[in-house]
Amino acid sequence: MKRKLVFATHNAHKLDEVRDIVKDNFEIVSLTDIGCFDDIEESGSTLEDNARIKARFVKEKYGYDCFGDDSGLEVDALNGAPGVYSARYAGGNGHDSEANVKKLLHEMEGASDRKAHFRTVIVLLLDGKEYQFDGRVDGTITSTPQGNDGFGYDPVFQPDGFDKTFAQLGMEVKSEISHRARAVKKLCEFLKGF
Ligand code: IMP
Repeated sequence: MKRKLVFATHNAHKLDEVRDIVKDNFEIVSLTDIGCFDDIEESGSTLEDNARIKARFVKEKYGYDCFGDDSGLEVDALNGAPGVYSARYAGGNGHDSEANVKKLLHEMEGASDRKAHFRTVIVLLLDGKEYQFDGRVDGTITSTPQGNDGFGYDPVFQPDGFDKTFAQLGMEVKSEISHRARAVKKLCEFLKGF
């Protein structure tokens, strides 16, 4: 029988990505699948903290081995902001991508150093041990939004080696080189060998 492992997310796209790769070894289930609809508070001050908070919440409340993830955009000229606050950079409950992008471009007005990177951290709790996997993609912040694909800061993030933003390049490129794809790849390599 395959081992059950919870991915502390409701995001179907993220689930599919991992499920497909580790399907021979693990049955990956979501928070929805285990009936967890709690609003897990992302109260950490780092991406690592938040990924760990999500994984530990599930382990402690439901007893399942689990992994959680957190991602963010870290901009050099802003000393790593918005970072862990990426989703709620412009305030409110967050996830207002248009407002977040607008604030970012405002903060970057006149900045000559436009270097930035996306980072994803995954924390896995398995057999009483904790493991961490991370992924990163480097690039620059454009001066105006370009492209319609993707979400979040994709319209203003141009990955190194490309002359288009993530929102112009689309999923095919993103699923190869994104921070999330790179962290997930490391997690899956680890799980496949288990
Ligand atoms: P999450 O941890 O994957 O939910 O990401 C937190 C926030 O970081 C999102 O709400 C976005 O604002 C930003 N973010 C993370 N990954 C991406 C990405 O691939 N493209 C654009 N924005 C992202």
